[in-house]
Amino acid sequence: MSRPSLLATHPLFPEARTLLNARCDVEYWQRPERPSRAEFLKQVAPKDGVICLLTEKIDKEMLAAAPKVRIAANVAVGYDNISLPDCTSRKVVVTNTPGVLDETTADFAWTLLMCAARRVEEGEALCRSGQWAGWNLDQLCGGDVWGKTLGVVGFGRIGRAVARRSRGFGMKVIYTDAIRAPEGVEHELGARYVDMDTLLASADFVTLHVPMMAGTHHLINAERLKKMKPTAYLVNTARGPVVDNEALYQALKAGTIAGAGIDVHEQEPKIHAGLVSLKNVVLTPHIASASVETRTKMACMAAENVLAFFGGQRPPNVVNPEALG
Ligand code: GLV
Repeated sequence: MSRPSLLATHPLFPEARTLLNARCDVEYWQRPERPSRAEFLKQVAPKDGVICLLTEKIDKEMLAAAPKVRIAANVAVGYDNISLPDCTSRKVVVTNTPGVLDETTADFAWTLLMCAARRVEEGEALCRSGQWAGWNLDQLCGGDVWGKTLGVVGFGRIGRAVARRSRGFGMKVIYTDAIRAPEGVEHELGARYVDMDTLLASADFVTLHVPMMAGTHHLINAERLKKMKPTAYLVNTARGPVVDNEALYQALKAGTIAGAGIDVHEQEPKIHAGLVSLKNVVLTPHIASASVETRTKMACMAAENVLAFFGGQRPPNVVNPEALG
């Protein structure tokens, strides 16, 4: 193929642009806000491939609007924005960016965990308000982290990276997953496999690291929140709909659990209004992988997937290999 024509729904980073521009004609979305659906469909229509963010839906409608598209390279590890069956049936190859964001995301799960437990946002707000009247014995007392039990839901690369960090805090680690980890991994991380109910009942911190799919929608619902300790905290850096946000709001308001750190939201960019009104939840705008280094690597990885594909090679991170060939 000569130079494939691509849409990148973001300017990406210079390193990724350099890779792409050498071999492809790329139209980059330039405005700071995300493209509207209509703008996206119009721009992608004549292209051979698309490099997209998780904010773009790649579905039947988009594929029909852009019949020449042969690859959708997601700049994210999660690809719940992409309908795999529709892509596969049209032989559109889908790629993602696994691995490069694990450590950065794990760092951020810990950031939320610590901020929620130690009431960092409340303390920060107090400092900025000019209302701090001075040190006091019972001021902004939170929950201890060290020595507690960390419960990891989803023990893949990110879940394990979160668990690894807990060793420095002398924590016990329990985890649950559809598949039990190899003994060597459990041993290395000092992690014990338990069922979901045991995890919820025993963990002081429950941190979510499952992909978004039919079986994980509202995995954490009202019933499961009730199974957690009233002193426990929930951390979500996975996908918003894994947690029933209304149920979480009710649980936080009623004191069913002590607090939460929530980076991903059910209807992004909307944030549950009830959660916004509460002090015992730390809210961030889906930034767990947002370090310059990691986001640059993610963009380059998407570029490399596209370049491999148009160069006649198997892209390194294909998620629907059935679409190849
Ligand atoms: C971010 O949420 C990602 O899936 O990479």
